[in-house]
Amino acid sequence: QGERTFVMIKPDGVQRGVVGSIISRFEDKGYKMVGCKMMDTPTQHCEKHYEEHKERPFFNKLVTYVCSGPVVAMVWEGTESIKGSRNLIGATNPTAATPGTIRGDFAMEMGRNLIHGSDSTESAAKEISHWFEDDELSKWTHHS
Ligand code: CMP
Repeated sequence: QGERTFVMIKPDGVQRGVVGSIISRFEDKGYKMVGCKMMDTPTQHCEKHYEEHKERPFFNKLVTYVCSGPVVAMVWEGTESIKGSRNLIGATNPTAATPGTIRGDFAMEMGRNLIHGSDSTESAAKEISHWFEDDELSKWTHHS
């Protein structure tokens, strides 16, 4: 039960082999994985995901980075999981991220900050439906 949030391990996380370590942190927290897939992100799909940053000077670099290799897109569920996941992930700039957070422990620079998490109820809803079809999200019911 609880709130759902969208989390994406970016290509640097996949390439460095820290997918398992990152997933463990969400599991350790108590969140329930309801969706997970590795995929090569089409450029347009990535541009749409980051459309609110379209006018920012770093937009093209950001899209190139996130499309540079496979990502792991996930949906995690739990009490206040949007805010809680952002706390697990840490500050956007890894230099400022507190040790103990994912970015604080695993990342060094803004251009390779390892992971994304939805920042509000609205963006979580939008991002979950942008990355997942309904039937890709588990209901956690038993199938015989
Ligand atoms: P994310 O949480 O995925 O949301 C927006 C992303 O934009 C952010 O993580 C960073 O990867 C990137 N970003 C934000 N600010 C900057 C910046 N000043 N320079 C480069 N990339 C940035």
